[in-house]
Amino acid sequence: MPTRPLRFLTSLLLSAGSTFALASPVPEAREEIHRLRVEIARHDDLYHRQGRSEIPDADYDELRARLAGLEKAHPVAAAAAAAPLPPVPDDRTGNLPDDTHHVPMRSLTKVRNVSELRSFHGALARRFGRDDLAYVVEPKYDGIAVSLTYERGRLARALTRGDGRTGEDITARVRAVAGVPARLRGGDAPDRIEIRGELYVPFAEFSRVNALRGEAGLAPFANPRALAAGLARRVTETPREETQALRLVCFGVGACAPDTSLPGYQRELSVRFRDWGLPAVEIVRAVRGVEQLVAAVDGLGRERSLLAFPTDGAVVKLDSRALQAAAGEGTDAPRWAAACKFAAAGAETRLLAISVQVGRSGALTPVAELAPVEVAGVTIARATLHSAAVLARLDARVGDTVRVERAGDVVPGIAGVNLEQRPADARPFAFPKDCPACGSTVVADGGGASLRCPSDSCPERLRRRVGHFASQAGVGIEGFGPVVMDRLIARGLVREPVDLYLLRREDLVAAETEAAADRLLTAIKRSRSAEAWRFVAGIGVPGVGAAAARELVRRHGSLEAIAAAEPRLREPLLALVRAGVRPPAVAGKGGALHGKTLVLTGALAGFSRAEAVTRIEAEGGRVAGSVGRGTDYLVAGENPGAKLAEARKRGVPVLGEEEFIRVLGGN
Ligand code: IVH
Repeated sequence: MPTRPLRFLTSLLLSAGSTFALASPVPEAREEIHRLRVEIARHDDLYHRQGRSEIPDADYDELRARLAGLEKAHPVAAAAAAAPLPPVPDDRTGNLPDDTHHVPMRSLTKVRNVSELRSFHGALARRFGRDDLAYVVEPKYDGIAVSLTYERGRLARALTRGDGRTGEDITARVRAVAGVPARLRGGDAPDRIEIRGELYVPFAEFSRVNALRGEAGLAPFANPRALAAGLARRVTETPREETQALRLVCFGVGACAPDTSLPGYQRELSVRFRDWGLPAVEIVRAVRGVEQLVAAVDGLGRERSLLAFPTDGAVVKLDSRALQAAAGEGTDAPRWAAACKFAAAGAETRLLAISVQVGRSGALTPVAELAPVEVAGVTIARATLHSAAVLARLDARVGDTVRVERAGDVVPGIAGVNLEQRPADARPFAFPKDCPACGSTVVADGGGASLRCPSDSCPERLRRRVGHFASQAGVGIEGFGPVVMDRLIARGLVREPVDLYLLRREDLVAAETEAAADRLLTAIKRSRSAEAWRFVAGIGVPGVGAAAARELVRRHGSLEAIAAAEPRLREPLLALVRAGVRPPAVAGKGGALHGKTLVLTGALAGFSRAEAVTRIEAEGGRVAGSVGRGTDYLVAGENPGAKLAEARKRGVPVLGEEEFIRVLGGN
């Protein structure tokens, strides 16, 4: 059963098969089609441009399926409804030059369960009049699609999928990806070939990058796909340590001239790719007939957790390229291939309550409080419901039995409601009209998609703002826990982050024991000289996280200069400066290491690696992961690694710790 359709929607879907839809509510169908298109377009934008997702894949697929059902049942309404969706969601960011694919990049037909897989096969079996068709089954890599053009064996360009016709040029990034050959091996490469593949991040690399980011005070990436999307398309400089995480896998061909240079079977394509030196799909299962096909897809699903790279399903393809050509293309996707999505790990449990959290920007987020349930080895008692709009679409009610899903690394979400188990007295959740923390009347953003507490003096927003400022994502005040914070807020002593620097000892003694008060005062005092970016990120202006804050500091040099250049940050930053915070000087443009690239090796006695990086960046320099043509200095500590030999070989100047300190300006 559909988990959450509006009542009339169910009837529309049920009427879809009959010739006379009973009193077909066409205006309503048009409205619903429009609403679904707008919602899907929003999720497409999040996913394809920003590398994020708000709902589990299965929910997204259901929205798509529901829209397709309505469009089919109500073609007139569909034609009249605005906001038609593009055949392929556009992943262009607008920040990179674009170029046209020789052969458009299409998406794949989705298959969501065994019976749809059987129908996929059934259609091909009928077309070719035989049931024993041969297929290959491969993992579906979860990254971002890319097309590489090799001309006379040389890598000429690499494009993202874009809108399918026109993609964005990421050639420079792709050239730097480990394992991407600049030239195809073997001398038998076609004159021109478009190789289709995926840029992805293996799990081990994902953990490595997030650990590094944690050390540097940067927010972690939510999942490997988000990291891949960020790395492939980020136009700003990205640390080498991060770009090294990307990998390429090749699985298909777009344009190819002459076409005769390709093997006749899909399963041989991987072999040919490997001969050319291209990274190919490692797991290619060749099967015959639908039973083997189903078993292979199922088997891959069960092995999924053992794979070292992220996958979100299996791709099945007709093995014979001649049959592929004969099957041809449907409106949106080839008829000879399909993507089978694996179900996310999930379990059913009771929804005990829905609470509403107030974020530091005022955003109200509904949260499901659940009877604890184990999903893939983790006990889950809370799951986000994302926003008022998502909750309304789900129509989850207190008392409902809901399905909780965890897709690998993503926060648990509610995938659906089991309507059969709904208690008779369950009522739709009435989103509070007033902020649960301060009682202010809630305001709607984005056409009602999200709700917000508008009050700047809301105590909960304040708690979150101050808590964020004091946390490791901000200036990092040790020992400043929620209990002290609440006491200080309740006494009216802290209303803004800056108030922390105005606290007197007697204020704290009123809220704490003397010893604890002194410890806290010391910690607050120490935080006055935190790095400048920590203040910028700590004040919690929407959109200004650690990365943006570091960039601002690099560009402008001081809190005062940032305040002068960025009106949104002006007041809070100047207040901090007036309260006497003194981040270490940042040289910005005129820094001692301005424009220089340094590589670190070995252990330094006086700095952790993260500190060394911060100091170098503070002097306008950059840190790279390995010694190369662009390296200006190698900083070598105790037990240097192979980088030292490489630097010597290349004649790169090597700095010992003392020289390094001198370059940094003495201390
Ligand atoms: S075959 C000509 N095989 O999934 C190539 N696609 O939803 C047609 N993908 O755009 C696609 N792993 O980016 C194919 N083993 C695999 C794949 C795969 C991941 C991606 C690819 C495609 C998308 C379709």
